[in-house]
Amino acid sequence: MRVYLSSDHAGFALKESLAAWLRARPAEEALEVVDLGPATAAPCDYPERAWALAEAVAGDEGSRGVLVCGTGLGVSMAANRHPRIRAALAHDAFTAELARRHNDAQVLCLGARVVGEGVARHALEAFLRAGFEGGRHAARVAQLGALGARGAGGEA
Ligand code: RB5
Repeated sequence: MRVYLSSDHAGFALKESLAAWLRARPAEEALEVVDLGPATAAPCDYPERAWALAEAVAGDEGSRGVLVCGTGLGVSMAANRHPRIRAALAHDAFTAELARRHNDAQVLCLGARVVGEGVARHALEAFLRAGFEGGRHAARVAQLGALGARGAGGEA
């Protein structure tokens, strides 16, 4: 599985730390880690960062994304504007796991000013391990897609 990461300046340190942690996984659990930046903690705006990651994940079936800003709110709002992305803001492992099992989220959003490194790692681990349950959730996820099309003025 390929995992894309990005952040703004407020999420930079946590993004760097999560990327290093993912790269240090044992060989049997290895992931391909793609850090989309930024490369420094210089101020940058979260909307374009989140959109670039959303494009990467939407164009790479089966991949996952991790977005970090101060609260996780800005990046989640931005990424969810992408019609093919479901981005979940989670502050704990339970929510992150359910975001996969029930919502089929491909992108996990974290708030670096909200969660510490340990909680963020647990949330990310849960997000990467859990699969979509489908069944009754599949119709609801399809409805999310239809809402996106309706919002864009297309057929729903
Ligand atoms: C940056 O100060 C902060 O506003 C941003 O990282 C994020 O929390 C926005 O939602």
